[in-house]
Amino acid sequence: MEAKMNAIIEKINAALADAERRLAAAATPAEVEQLRIELIGRNGLFPALSREMGTVPAAERRETGAAFNSGRARIQEGIEAAVRRLAAAPAAAAAKLDLTLPGRRWRTGHKHPISIVVDECVAIFRRMGFIVADGPEIESVYHNFDALNTPLDHPSRDPQDTFYFADGRILRSQTSPVQIRVMESQEPPVRIVAPGRVYRRDTPDATHGMNFHQIEGLYIDRDVSMSDLKSVLQSFAVEMFGPRAKIRLRPHFFPFTEPSVEYDFSCIMCEGKGCPVCKNSGYIEIAGAGMVDPNVLRNVGYDPEVWSGFAFGMGIERLAMLRYRIGDLRYLYENDVRFLGQF
Ligand code: PHE
Repeated sequence: MEAKMNAIIEKINAALADAERRLAAAATPAEVEQLRIELIGRNGLFPALSREMGTVPAAERRETGAAFNSGRARIQEGIEAAVRRLAAAPAAAAAKLDLTLPGRRWRTGHKHPISIVVDECVAIFRRMGFIVADGPEIESVYHNFDALNTPLDHPSRDPQDTFYFADGRILRSQTSPVQIRVMESQEPPVRIVAPGRVYRRDTPDATHGMNFHQIEGLYIDRDVSMSDLKSVLQSFAVEMFGPRAKIRLRPHFFPFTEPSVEYDFSCIMCEGKGCPVCKNSGYIEIAGAGMVDPNVLRNVGYDPEVWSGFAFGMGIERLAMLRYRIGDLRYLYENDVRFLGQF
């Protein structure tokens, strides 16, 4: 039987088309709810059509009623499906979160290799009974040179080697002035180490910089001998570089020690066999040392007939290069995280 299209069926069909389009496009539950209110809510289209049903001729009533019921049921189903779809949407978004991807990492900083080596040196010397002392980087000529028995014509005083300020003070060229400051401020015995920054007018290359770090040591007591110095340096070498580390002392000159030595550590790259790093000598020069000159003791008011001692100074960068097998000291100052991240 041909479906007779009356006004009510037309409205139902139009409502169905409208609902289908809007439900498909709905992005929020609020849009779906709005549609429900308009179509099947208490004051919506379908209750109104239901009241109009009485005007439909008896012959069309059965068909119109069927269209009404199926139309309302389809809209109801469409709304329910849309509600389910929108409720599932956040879960679908969450499903795109891939928990197996690597996370975003916090890059934590850490100590610079220079600081690590300074801390290790200090820890080793503390175990031997040394305490840490400190002094200024802007220093007087008296503390850096005069009190350390440095003759007026010594080349290190030259402005080509040392940075002078207009007022006559300097950037300390060594940590040795800390020896003087400590002895000026206390009576013997003395057992200190003084790590810190020093400055020289050197042209930077693989083993030199304009500023670098030293750790100074000073030991003053009664009857201190050169063998005490040797054993302290040897113990330090073993603690720092392992049981096979050796040291070598070579005669040298420093104004403030007599006798003086330069001392070398066996090259840890080749263990003394000879390689490019140690220039085939098997040893790497680390620093100077010696027995404190009686003139220095007199300058600070210590009686050289009663007190004697030794002093040493090591280059921290040189230690770091050996410790970590770094071929060029300039890496330590370039602040490249690819380098610094390795320590
Ligand atoms: N101050 C000396 C230098 O800079 C090293 C040193 C320290 C030598 C203590 C003897 C005693 O080279």
